Amino acid sequence: MSYYEIQGGRALFGSVAIHGAKNSVLPILAACLLAPGQSVIENCPELSDVSATLDILRLLGCRVDREGDTVAVDASTLYRWDIPEHLMREMRSSVIFLGALLARLGKAELSYPGGCELGPRPIDLHLAALRALGAGITEEQGALCCECRRGGLQGRKLCLSIPSVGATENVMLAACRCPGLTTIVGAAREPEIVDLQEFLRCLGVPISGAGTSTVTIQGGTQLHPARYRVMGDRIAAATYLCGAAAAGGEVEVTGFAPDTLTAVLSCLEEAGCVIHTELDRAVLTSTGPLRGIDPVRTAPYPGFPTDAQAILMAALAGGEGATLFVENIFDSRYRHVDELRRMGANIQVAGRAAMVTGAGRLHGAAVRSTDLRGGAALVVAALGAEGTTQIHQLNHIRRGYQTLDKSLRALGAEIQEVP
Ligand code: EPZ
Repeated sequence: MSYYEIQGGRALFGSVAIHGAKNSVLPILAACLLAPGQSVIENCPELSDVSATLDILRLLGCRVDREGDTVAVDASTLYRWDIPEHLMREMRSSVIFLGALLARLGKAELSYPGGCELGPRPIDLHLAALRALGAGITEEQGALCCECRRGGLQGRKLCLSIPSVGATENVMLAACRCPGLTTIVGAAREPEIVDLQEFLRCLGVPISGAGTSTVTIQGGTQLHPARYRVMGDRIAAATYLCGAAAAGGEVEVTGFAPDTLTAVLSCLEEAGCVIHTELDRAVLTSTGPLRGIDPVRTAPYPGFPTDAQAILMAALAGGEGATLFVENIFDSRYRHVDELRRMGANIQVAGRAAMVTGAGRLHGAAVRSTDLRGGAALVVAALGAEGTTQIHQLNHIRRGYQTLDKSLRALGAEIQEVP
């Protein structure tokens, strides 16, 4: 299995254009099922999670063509409503197809998406909301069988007890088929939800409120295919910025909206970085060891994003001073800590809290990715560490980062993929 080999301690300089957002393009690709005809998605990143999603679309009967970062999905020939277990296991977030298939075909069958490296990943909110819209859902031997009850789906007011990103997206998609008005109270407010809303509007869906905690969808309208450009990946942008913060230097990241990453950028400034932002780019300058900062508590948007927790922790672990992290979203999102400790990090974990005491400088080691963002965190740590780091289990990183090594080399990092 190939691994990254990184010679740390080289400052980074230059500019990197961020790829399209994984957590936006996945629901948008599922939403292509809603409208018969060919939709075209631009700025579609080359990620293994995207490939898995395109495989599902093909299996369901869609014609899918890809040319660079542009993907054409023709959903006219959609005829299947069941997603086999091996594809569900490959990517648990395929649960997003539930709402889209119910909306277009009135039924869906998929195996229960299991937990993942971040711990149990329940979907009780998804199922409760879809049942409330009129879906009959049975769970048999790990398979979910969903069908519109007699009378079909019907719009109504729904309340999510947790602002779940996936549940909000699933309801938005299912509601497109529901005659009448669906109101989601307690919706997630992430920028990726706004991106999905903008695509649905292009399909002809009367929808509004995304980005706030109340989203309304007027369902039952005839939809048509559309062309849409996906937003830039704000978490990938955070990764490059934290890498520059850890290694030192000056790096510009383009193709994303810094105002979707305010919580992370303010932490980096508090740690001693200088950051200049414009509408679609940020420039970070880091000239000295990073300082400890006020407690970092992950929270639903616009709070500090859980996906950036490991990445920022890795940058601060090689600095000076102490920072308390509190992971409030997932049950076990500190699996990267043991691997950072192998690089000399001083991190004490107690339940949801992790106290990071800057080690002054980490040192290279042989480490392995434990999950997508945990793997990215190891790359950030290695860029600032003294000596050579080997990072194994690259499959996790490939789920969410397009040409990470090549982009970092262009910034002056010494990183190679060793076959
Ligand atoms: C999305 O996952 C993202 N994935 C995650 O990014 C991200 O970490 C997460 O949102 C939070 O921002 C995609 O968009 C593909 P949730 P999702 O439903 O939708 C609990 C990455 O690294 N919950 O908002 O699965 C759940 O257990 C990935 O790119 C229920 O209890 O997250 C968690 O504690 C990792 N019941 C919390 O809500 C439910 O029915 C938030 O989960 C659903 C969720």
